[in-house]
Amino acid sequence: MVIDPRLSIIDIRLKGIKRVIAVTGGKGGIGKSLTASLLALTLSRLGYKVGLLDLDFSAPSTHVILGIGIGIEDAYPEEEKGIIPPEVHGIAFMSIIYFTGNEPAPLRGTDISNAMLELLAITQWGSLDFLIIDMPPGISDVAMDVIRWLRGAEFIVMTTTSKVALETVTKVIKMLEELKMPIIGVIENMKLKLKLKNSSPVQEAMKEFNVTLLGEIAFDTNLEDIISDGDLNKLVASDFGASINRIVLKSLL
Ligand SMILES: Nc1ncnc2c1ncn2[C@@H]1O[C@H](COP(=O)(O)OP(=O)(O)OP(=O)(O)O)[C@@H](O)[C@H]1O
Ligand SMILES: [Mg+2]
Repeated sequence: MVIDPRLSIIDIRLKGIKRVIAVTGGKGGIGKSLTASLLALTLSRLGYKVGLLDLDFSAPSTHVILGIGIGIEDAYPEEEKGIIPPEVHGIAFMSIIYFTGNEPAPLRGTDISNAMLELLAITQWGSLDFLIIDMPPGISDVAMDVIRWLRGAEFIVMTTTSKVALETVTKVIKMLEELKMPIIGVIENMKLKLKLKNSSPVQEAMKEFNVTLLGEIAFDTNLEDIISDGDLNKLVASDFGASINRIVLKSLL
């Protein structure tokens, strides 16, 4: 078996971080990136030293949510025996976009895993209270690889109320349990006032796995405008932001 030397470097790179929290979920478009961005923003505004790592190489989006630019006038990673993430809005930020720009990353399959391994091995986070990671969606090979490298990470799993999303979430939970990764809990996002026979299907499903439901976040009809405005104070003060704040205070501190 060939052991990649970069694997042991990842442990060294993450050594100065008190808690690594990865946001994952079974499906696309269920609010992983928004949740990861707001967790980072909320914790940073509470005075913690926070990093945000966007590991969704196919569709990086935390920089869009937080309005982080990659033009020549913007902050960029600095080389110093590896690379130091720039601090943006008080958050140490790292994403593939610093290397690919706004072009799609020309990577497939194992090349993506390799690029992620490289990014984890070269990024110098220094000391942090929290590193929040926006994970690639689902239980793809790439997601499985990343989970194996993040020894010591804790997971937040996103779902919506739909049976379809729940089906894949249970797969993610089983996979995390098989890999012996700790699960902080599940967030039910985009909750609508649906007419359901079972008033709380997510809660029921989570009982079966002995996993905590951290909170429910309602579908916020103002959110799109707030994100487009790019005003982070409004984002933190939005209904979505208030829900994340409650989850942070109740479950992460
Ligand atoms: N509670 C909510 N209310 C309204 N809109 C929401 C809510 N949560 C997320 N959204 C919107 O849904 C879209 C998808 O969210 P996001 O990009 O965070 O999902 P994702 O799980 O990271 O998706 P992907 O798998 O494509 O990376 C975004 O436009 C986001 O603004
Ligand atoms: Mg995303």
